[in-house]
Amino acid sequence: MGSPLRIAIDGPAASGKSTLGKRLASALGYLYFDTGVMYRAVALAALRRHIPAEDADRLTDLAANLQIDVRPPSKDDGRDYDVLLNGEDVTWEIRRPDVDAIVSVVASHPGVREVLTRKQREIGERGRVVMVGRDIGTVVMPDADLKIYLDASPEERARRRYLQRLGRGERASFEHILEAVRERDRLDHGRAVAPLRPAQDAIVLDSSELNAEQVFQRALALVRGYAKSSD
Ligand code: DC
Repeated sequence: MGSPLRIAIDGPAASGKSTLGKRLASALGYLYFDTGVMYRAVALAALRRHIPAEDADRLTDLAANLQIDVRPPSKDDGRDYDVLLNGEDVTWEIRRPDVDAIVSVVASHPGVREVLTRKQREIGERGRVVMVGRDIGTVVMPDADLKIYLDASPEERARRRYLQRLGRGERASFEHILEAVRERDRLDHGRAVAPLRPAQDAIVLDSSELNAEQVFQRALALVRGYAKSSD
């Protein structure tokens, strides 16, 4: 049977999921798919159309009628992929602070989640994929071959975000970032549909005391362990 064909990585904001997902996908020659970009694309479209983040019905309609594509990177500007919203390149726009501010609320609507989950499953069914998000192991691909839940303390995750921002030459306050991380956790864990939690059969990796290389090596060992046990 060999390598796990469908790998799910879930965990809270800034736990290192995307760094791990990218490296694992590249080592295995798999597609790296960050499902958060879909929720961000819907949030951006809502801002542009002045649809309030609380309007579940209009947002569900919006999500159903948007064309969201994730493609290999077309530019060498630090991006890992292109995100296209109705054909327009919004790769960087979906990272705007005003998108950050509303995306958790947008992602809390069951209708929005249903539409996006369907699109994510279609991609998962093709296999050879590392899919990253909050509910991949529990809802999107409950039958994934390998499920990793990457965790880290709120303080450590805030510290990483803080250093990232300083590294980009931005001004940042550790206290504000920690507060935002806690608020995102509260929303992601507390929502009624597909709350953030490890799947029963997920392997939990706590990265608080590990660097990116160590996390990658542990995940790679899990992939190899899977390949061996399924021989
Ligand atoms: O990982 P991220 O910060 O780009 O995610 C953006 C938002 O989308 C965040 O509030 C959590 C939500 N999300 C989700 O609910 N389910 C997913 N599979 C991925 C992201």
